[in-house]
Amino acid sequence: MKKKIVSVMLCAAMATTVLAGCGSSNTASTDAAAEETAEDVEAEATKEEAEDAEAAEEATDAAEVTTVEPGVLTMGTNATFPPYEYKDGDDVVGIDAEIAQALADKLGLQLEIVDMDFDSLVASVQSGKIDMSLAGMTVTEERKQNVDFTDSYATGVQVIIVKEDSDIASADDLEGKLIGVQQGTTGHLYCADDFGEDNVIPYANGATAVQALLQGKVDCVVIDQEPAKAFVEANEGLKILETAYTTEDYAAAVSKDNPALTAALNSALQELKDDGTIQGILDKYIKAE
Ligand code: ARG
Repeated sequence: MKKKIVSVMLCAAMATTVLAGCGSSNTASTDAAAEETAEDVEAEATKEEAEDAEAAEEATDAAEVTTVEPGVLTMGTNATFPPYEYKDGDDVVGIDAEIAQALADKLGLQLEIVDMDFDSLVASVQSGKIDMSLAGMTVTEERKQNVDFTDSYATGVQVIIVKEDSDIASADDLEGKLIGVQQGTTGHLYCADDFGEDNVIPYANGATAVQALLQGKVDCVVIDQEPAKAFVEANEGLKILETAYTTEDYAAAVSKDNPALTAALNSALQELKDDGTIQGILDKYIKAE
């Protein structure tokens, strides 16, 4: 857009020079005409500049955003994480699906959701297979080495699920216990750091980790609070410990090569926060205690 303004102004300058050149070897009236023409061109340029600025304001940054598939916002997720993303028949639904739809609408793009393993998401963003991941993904320093994150749209809490009769009462009791986690999640990474890789058993998804807990293969499961609530509700004999393991921020991950998309998503996200859309979506799925 800036380029266009510059080239229009350049034309104006050129027109002045050329016409003034003619004027000097001819009559005064040609000079006047030249000036008028130059003025016209300049006025035109100013008008265009104003229109451009207006349009830019309206369309935010959407016009400059490039996506993997033109006109489409391709979101990667791992739909095993209720209420953020889960399957309803063939559809991926939940908080992140609704937020992504609202973001796509703001950017004038069509939304496409690709379901994949959670630990493939960052690489898929990096390789340009997807435009962004929206997957209840926590912002971490390690992930930031590989992808950019948008502003945060929700808070996550890592909690501990145990059997109702467990002797584990808090994170302090996890030493030497077998901890089930979803592969590649922060629960996995933090527990491996804190309690050693040998004490952590990664599963393809949270539901499988919870089945392993019910079968006595692990002593607890460390996972994000909202899916934990859903899993505990769906199964007899489990409880979530009162003391949380850690608190974190969820955000969308975008390629480091596409800062325009990150910027556009951030301004759309801000509008959706300001008008209450994000809170409305969160409240629809997460009932106050
Ligand atoms: N918040 C955790 C993380 O970023 C878990 C996210 C898992 N999300 C999912 N859709 N399965 O590592």
